[in-house]
Amino acid sequence: MRFEDFWYVVGLSEELGQNNVLARMVLGEWLAVFRGEDGEAVALRDRCMHRNSRLSPGTVCAGKIHCPYHGWVYDKTGQVVAVPAEGDNLQKLPDRRAQKYATKEQDGYIYVRLADKPTAELDPFPMPYYSQPGWETVRVINRFANNVTNCAENFIDIPHTVSVHPGIFRNPRQQKLEMTVERRNGSVFVTYRNETNNLGMWEKFLNWRGGQVHHTDSFHMPNVTSVEYNFGNHRRFFITSQSIPETDNSTLVYTDVTFNYGIWNKLARPFVRWTAQKIIDQDIIILGIQGEVIAKYGSKFANTPADTIHVLVESIRHSLEVGEDPRKLPEIKREVDFWV
Ligand code: FES
Ligand SMILES: [Fe+2]
Repeated sequence: MRFEDFWYVVGLSEELGQNNVLARMVLGEWLAVFRGEDGEAVALRDRCMHRNSRLSPGTVCAGKIHCPYHGWVYDKTGQVVAVPAEGDNLQKLPDRRAQKYATKEQDGYIYVRLADKPTAELDPFPMPYYSQPGWETVRVINRFANNVTNCAENFIDIPHTVSVHPGIFRNPRQQKLEMTVERRNGSVFVTYRNETNNLGMWEKFLNWRGGQVHHTDSFHMPNVTSVEYNFGNHRRFFITSQSIPETDNSTLVYTDVTFNYGIWNKLARPFVRWTAQKIIDQDIIILGIQGEVIAKYGSKFANTPADTIHVLVESIRHSLEVGEDPRKLPEIKREVDFWV
C-alpha cells in the first residue's frame, strides 16, 4: 500500500465552476483540475505535452482546457483534440494524451487519487454529519510549513493546547487526565476520561450544565484526524481535518468544524469560524517552527508516555512509507495518564 492509493482533497466542489481551473499539488505532483462538459471533475498533470507550459493558467471552454501558450486543447480524458498551428492536419498527428488522474466528489470536496492501479480500493473519509439536518459545517483551509505526520499529530495533541492556545482553548491546571489509546485497522482511537470544564472561552456555552465531558480523538490513515466533543443533546461538535501532502514540508489542511448547537446553530457560525481560525493560526506558527528545526536537524523525538498517540500515528505512516498495509499492524491498546 502506498500514499498514492488514497484520495486527497484538491478543492471544494463550490470553488470549481464550469470555466475555472484549480492549480494544486499533491505528493509533489502538479495538477490542473477543471470540469468536463458533463460537470465531472477532471485532474490532469499540470504540464502541456507540447512545449511544457503549465495548463492551469489556461482557459476552460465547453469542458476542455486550452493551454495558455500555443492553445493546444485537451478534453476530459486528457486527449489532445486541437492543435491550432496544425489546423486540419490534426488527424495526421499521433494520438497524444496527458497524464490523467481519477477524481471523486463527496461531502462538498473534490478528491484526486494518483495511483492508476491502487493496491487497495479505498474510499474518501466520510465527513461526520456533513449537510445533515440539525448540523452546520464551517470549513477552513490553511497551509502549514510542515509534513502531514506532524500536522495530524498536532490536531489530536491535548498537551500542547495549554501552552499554544491558553485562554482560548484550555488553561494550564496540572490536572490529571486518563486516556485509552488503541491502534486498530490503520486507525488510532483515543478516549479521554476525567476531563472536566477546562475549555477556554466557550466553556459556559458548550458545557452549561457542567456535566461530564465526552471527548474522543482519532487518526485514520493516511491523513485524517477527527476530534469529537459531546456535552449532550445540541452541544456536540466534530473537528475533522484532512492534511494534504504538497511537499515534504508543505501541507494544505482542510478543516471541517461540524456542530449541533440546536437553536444556536446559525448564530454560532461566525464564532465557530473565528475560534477555529484563531486556534489554527497559533498552530501554523508552532508547526512552522518545528518544521524549520526538522529541516535543519532531522526529526528525532524524545517521547514520553504522553506521546503514545504520536508514536502510533507514526507507526501507521511509517508502514505506508515502506509500502506495507497498516491494517495488518497488530492491534494495540494502552492506558495512559497525563497532566494538563
Ligand atoms: S506549450 Fe502548450 S500549446 Fe505549446
Ligand atoms: Fe493546536
